[in-house]
Amino acid sequence: MALERTLSIIKPDAVAKNVIGEIYSRFEKAGLKVVAAKMKHLSRREAEGFYAVHRERPFFAALVDFMISGPVMIQALEGDNAVLKHRDLMGATDPKKAAPGTIRADFADSIDANAVHGSDAIETAKVEIAYFFAETELCPR
Ligand code: PPS
Repeated sequence: MALERTLSIIKPDAVAKNVIGEIYSRFEKAGLKVVAAKMKHLSRREAEGFYAVHRERPFFAALVDFMISGPVMIQALEGDNAVLKHRDLMGATDPKKAAPGTIRADFADSIDANAVHGSDAIETAKVEIAYFFAETELCPR
């Protein structure tokens, strides 16, 4: 298995529910290590830049408004097969379709407020990690 990194964001709804620790616990139990982390209240510009690839989609404005509605917890995770493993832990984008026991099934209320973000591929993860963390902030262990 390949050692990978992925970018994870605990979104404003999940931060407001005070479940950061519960979500971190799932990462740890799955063998994912936090190698960088920061809590941040994103600016509109930061959120628009992060989701730029979705700029033309009908939900773009709502997504940005939601992502700046409160602080988020941002982390780079490292582990075997980290990108897919993290996606599996998150569950489907729409919590109504997310498998039982996944983060979105347990903590998300709707597709608009779906608790977590995770990179969708290794290359995307590199770009997304670099968007929030300088190389010197990553602590491999
Ligand atoms: S994904 O997770 O990228 O495969 O899903 P995708 O459908 O491409 O969605 C891209 C991001 O937009 C969010 N999303 C929405 N936000 C608000 N309203 C609606 N209807 C909606 N549909 C999708 C989705 O959660 C993705 O954001 P992230 O942060 O990656 O979860």
